[in-house]
Amino acid sequence: MQTMIQLRLIPILFILLGILFSNQSAAQIYRPSAGIETRVNVLLAKMTLDEKIGQLSLYTTDWGSTGPTIREGYKNDIRSGACGNLFNAHTTGFVRELQKIAVEETRLKIPLLFGFDVIHGYKTIFPIPLGEAASWDLELIEKSARVAAAEASAAGLNWTYAPMVDIGRDPRWGRVMEGAGEDTYLGSRIAEARVRGTQGKKLGDSDALLACVKHFAGYGAPIAGRDYNTVDMSERYFRDYYLPPYEAAVKAGAATVMTSFNDYDGVPATGNKFLLDNILRKEWGFQGFVVTDYTSINEMVNHGVVADDKEAGELALNAGVDMDMQGAVYQRFLKESLKEGKVTQKQIDEAVRRVLRLKFELGLFEDPYKFCNAEREKNTLLAPANRTAAREVARASIVLLKNDHQLLPLKTGQKIVLIGPLGDNKSELTGNWNGAGNANDCVSLREGLAKVVPTDFMYIAGCDFENPDKSGFAAAMRAAEKYDVVIVAVGEKAMMSGEAAARAELGLPGVQEELVLELCKTGKPVIVVLMNGRPLAIPQIAEKATAILEAWWLGTETGNAIADVLYGTYNPSGKLPMTFPRSVGQVPIFYNEKNTGRPYDPNSKWTSKYIDQQNSPQWPFGFGLSYTSFSYGEPKVELPSSKSAGSAVMTVTVSLTNSGKLPGEEVVQLYVRDLVGSVTRPVKELKGFQKIMLQPGETKELKFTLTEKDLSFYRRDMTFGTEPGDYEIMVGGNSVDLKKVKVKL
Ligand code: BGC
Repeated sequence: MQTMIQLRLIPILFILLGILFSNQSAAQIYRPSAGIETRVNVLLAKMTLDEKIGQLSLYTTDWGSTGPTIREGYKNDIRSGACGNLFNAHTTGFVRELQKIAVEETRLKIPLLFGFDVIHGYKTIFPIPLGEAASWDLELIEKSARVAAAEASAAGLNWTYAPMVDIGRDPRWGRVMEGAGEDTYLGSRIAEARVRGTQGKKLGDSDALLACVKHFAGYGAPIAGRDYNTVDMSERYFRDYYLPPYEAAVKAGAATVMTSFNDYDGVPATGNKFLLDNILRKEWGFQGFVVTDYTSINEMVNHGVVADDKEAGELALNAGVDMDMQGAVYQRFLKESLKEGKVTQKQIDEAVRRVLRLKFELGLFEDPYKFCNAEREKNTLLAPANRTAAREVARASIVLLKNDHQLLPLKTGQKIVLIGPLGDNKSELTGNWNGAGNANDCVSLREGLAKVVPTDFMYIAGCDFENPDKSGFAAAMRAAEKYDVVIVAVGEKAMMSGEAAARAELGLPGVQEELVLELCKTGKPVIVVLMNGRPLAIPQIAEKATAILEAWWLGTETGNAIADVLYGTYNPSGKLPMTFPRSVGQVPIFYNEKNTGRPYDPNSKWTSKYIDQQNSPQWPFGFGLSYTSFSYGEPKVELPSSKSAGSAVMTVTVSLTNSGKLPGEEVVQLYVRDLVGSVTRPVKELKGFQKIMLQPGETKELKFTLTEKDLSFYRRDMTFGTEPGDYEIMVGGNSVDLKKVKVKL
């Protein structure tokens, strides 16, 4: 009898133990002291396969067109655990509502990630990334990303799809607006600054977002500049010029990486093991998770490397993709693929671990609503300090391309007329990928000028962006005749660059160019203010206008920033991060080309050149004028007497004098040429830069230190390193006007 009772007690004991154990493990999940790895493993052990796949699935809400709404289907998927992450949901109220479903109505209460494209500001919009790159000011660029992260995290978000670090050497490609331009070195430093700014002091802070480096890899090099097109180049070229910014961002600690839509060397990036496993994880030691771009798993069917979505999912997971954005491929097929042995449980578990780790690191398990404080949201968005920062970055991003007769800065007595479709416009100023920015929060150029122009000042549109109607020209001409100076604001509409916005022509759209040229005929000084998302080819304007300012899309503080520059409150200091061609036929065009066997010679037909166009660009990489002038001394090179790993291989010093009459900033650029290599080397490569402020008459000595890594490249045998021999060291204020010195290493 006693034995019977004892036997009956055994299952009860097990149940009790089970409850105790599960409580303990639940406690371990929610108790930070257990350590992230333990918490991840305990949680993973409790998850069903469906719940695991849910953590690998990411879906969009319908925000864009209809405001904060989400399809019932997605809500149910959150409830069942099939949707573990969302994007395009923001604002504290909406995020809280959705997060509540995840943490109150699901079995395991795993919080959701909330992603959004916070590319150049959330509510306070900063200049487009290409514009910011023109500031060559890493502190300001980091600050911009910091403000964006502070605002976005105050609005419910914990993940941004930035920075985009794709090198862009072809201005036809619309997404050059989203990157840092054509150069590997500048792009790498900017990538690091943006990751630092986005992730703040540490993940887990309430103002830090997960960064997402994109688009891995090579997305910026589609054939003919057409978005999503094929990418193909040698591995050497890819590694030397295209991969370093991704690596720099990963090494700066970027938590996540997004795959790209394109293929590379015949394999779509989303199914490319060489990229995702060999390079990203094994060579660079990336520990975070990899997310696809929008339905890019499914698109591998169109690429023609798999027969259907199921196979596409297998290719992606096997290559190293952790999370499926919007494709629902993992959700629909991964279970079946596992059953068939096409993927393994271990792979799925590892992908889930990577996602969960970051959710723990963000502190979402302790407080799933940590980014949902409505009071903080209200106080942070568009805070005066954020607007001040946006103005600071915006004016530093402007590039002065031409300034004949020192027309600029404008003098207070001059009577000005403002003309052009962008003169009184707000809707285009936030540019493409403008987060949650509102046109109404922007200061138009007209408003910015009205604050500083003392008297008589008039505005007239003259024409539209695309409409061929020229009936407004006459009034514009009459107005121009009456005033001392004409400011004409022209450019692209925001949607003319960005994703799926490749252009085959690089001039100003519509009749804008004609309007500018007509105005130039009046003989009045004409200042052209350009707002656009890519280098334009405007040779006639370059010749005829008196002054030209490249103002990109500057965001919320546009009008104030441009007025600061026009009236000299701020002395322009921007330098082009991309070459401006003379005509479309020259593109792709970039400064660090190879010499070829028949380098350009104007007197010899049989050299590498066009018969109907010059080789030189309209404005070279690194170019930008100031209201003051700078003179460079001769660069001096010193080689250290002894060398240790990671130490300097040379130091370069150069003196810089502000030879003009105004205080001003100069971006001093250092380029290197390896004269004889085991493989052909570029005619110059940027390897350092410093932005410094000098008072009139002031001279400063600048020192650059070059390390072994700076001079390394993929040699003939594909090892990465330097080679002894002769080098040319060049220093100057742009990639063409340089002082040179030779050195033997
Ligand atoms: C873009 C990505 C973006 C994603 C999510 C895609 O179309 O290529 O850059 O992050 O959409 O919005």
